[in-house]
Amino acid sequence: MKREEMMGRNTQNRKSILLTGCAGFIGSNFILYFLEKYSEYHIVNLDLLTYAGNLGNLNEIEDHDRYTFVNGDICDRELVESIFETHDIRGVIHFAAESHVDNSIKNPGVFIETNINGTFTLVDVAYKKWMNKPFEYKNGYELCRFHHISTDEVYGTLGDKGLFTEKTPYAPNSPYAASKAGSDMIIRSYYHTYGLNTIITNCSNNYGPRQHDEKLIPTIIRKALRNEKIPIYGDGKNIRDWLYVDDHCTGIDLAYHKGRIGEVYNIGGRNERDNNYIANKICEILDKLSPKDSGDSYIDQITFVEDRAGHDRRYAIDATKIEDELGWKAEENFESGIEKTIKWYLDKYNSIMDMS
Ligand SMILES: NC(=O)c1ccc[n+]([C@@H]2O[C@H](COP(=O)([O-])OP(=O)(O)OC[C@H]3O[C@@H](n4cnc5c(N)ncnc54)[C@H](O)[C@@H]3O)[C@@H](O)[C@H]2O)c1
Repeated sequence: MKREEMMGRNTQNRKSILLTGCAGFIGSNFILYFLEKYSEYHIVNLDLLTYAGNLGNLNEIEDHDRYTFVNGDICDRELVESIFETHDIRGVIHFAAESHVDNSIKNPGVFIETNINGTFTLVDVAYKKWMNKPFEYKNGYELCRFHHISTDEVYGTLGDKGLFTEKTPYAPNSPYAASKAGSDMIIRSYYHTYGLNTIITNCSNNYGPRQHDEKLIPTIIRKALRNEKIPIYGDGKNIRDWLYVDDHCTGIDLAYHKGRIGEVYNIGGRNERDNNYIANKICEILDKLSPKDSGDSYIDQITFVEDRAGHDRRYAIDATKIEDELGWKAEENFESGIEKTIKWYLDKYNSIMDMS
C-alpha cells in the first residue's frame, strides 16, 4: 500500500466521498468549490501525482479538517479497497485520468491502464462495497452514487454543422478519446448489469486557472510572455466548444446531486471558437494587460506548426438536456472567461519569471 497522508480530523459524523485526480486542473477547481459549498462532506482525494498533478493547486485546503489526501494509484485495488473501508466511502466523483491527446499519440499504453483499468478498479470496488448483488444495495448504502467525468471527444469529430447530443454514437479518434470511451462503457455496464447508481458527464474543452502548462491556452500565454513563437497546429481552424472550468464544476455538482440514475449529461458552453480566434484574442488581451516595451503586438509571435496526427476538426456540445432537466447554465462566455484566465496566468508566470 502506498503512503497515505492522513489530514482529516473529527470526521466521524460526516459522509465521506472519494474524489480522484484532484491535484489536476478540473479536480482542484472542483474540490475548492465543493468543500466551500457543502459542509456535510469529508472529501478524500486520491491522486498519483503524475507529471499532471500538482499539490500546489490545493495549498489553501491542505489543512482543512474535512479533507484527506491519499497519494496513490486508482489502479491499485488493495489501496482503493482500503480507502473505501477506512473512510466508509458513500460516493465517488472520478476525475483521475491521463488527459493530454498529444501524449496519448506518443504513449498510449498508460492511457489504457489509467483510464480503462483504473476506472474499472474504482467502479468494481464501489459495487462490491455498496451492493449485496445486482440491483440490491446494502442497508444504508442506497444513495451511494458513482459519477464518472468524461469528455466530448468520445463522439469523434463533427462537420461544419451539428452538435453532439447524448444520443450521438461514439466514434473516438485518438487513443485518449478511445480510452475515455472505454471507461464510459464500463460505467454504463455497471448501471445496466448491476443497477449501480451511476452518472456520466461528457464535457467540452475546459479552460481556466490551474491548468497544466502543456495545454493550449496556458501554452499561448506562456510563450507570448516569454517572447517565444506561439505554436498553432495546422491551419488553426480546428474548432472546440470552450467552457470556463467553474461552469463545469457547477454542472458536475448538479449532475451528482440531482441527475437521474444511469443517465449521461453533456456539458458545454455553446462557445465554439477556432484556435486562430483563441490565439489572436489572447494576444489582444495581453497587448492591453501586459504591453510589450517595443509596442509590438504578441500576435506577431503566432506560428503555424505541423498538425497533430488525426486532429479532430470540430467539437460542439448540445447542452439542452442538462439545461432543461437540471437547470444548469454556463455563467461565462469565452470572452469573459478568458480575461479572468489570462489575469490568473499573468500572476503565475510573472511570479515565476521574477524568481528566475
Ligand atoms: N481538461 C479538459 O478540457 C477536459 C474536458 C472534458 C473532460 N475532461 C476529463 O476531466 C478529468 C480531469 O481532467 P483534467 O484536465 O483536470 O486532467 P489533468 O491531467 O489536469 O489531471 C489529472 C489528474 O489525475 C491524476 N492521475 C493520473 N493518473 C492517475 C492514477 N493512475 N491514479 C490516480 N491519479 C491519477 C494526475 O496526477 C492529475 O492530478 C479527466 O477525466 C478528463 O478526461 C477534461
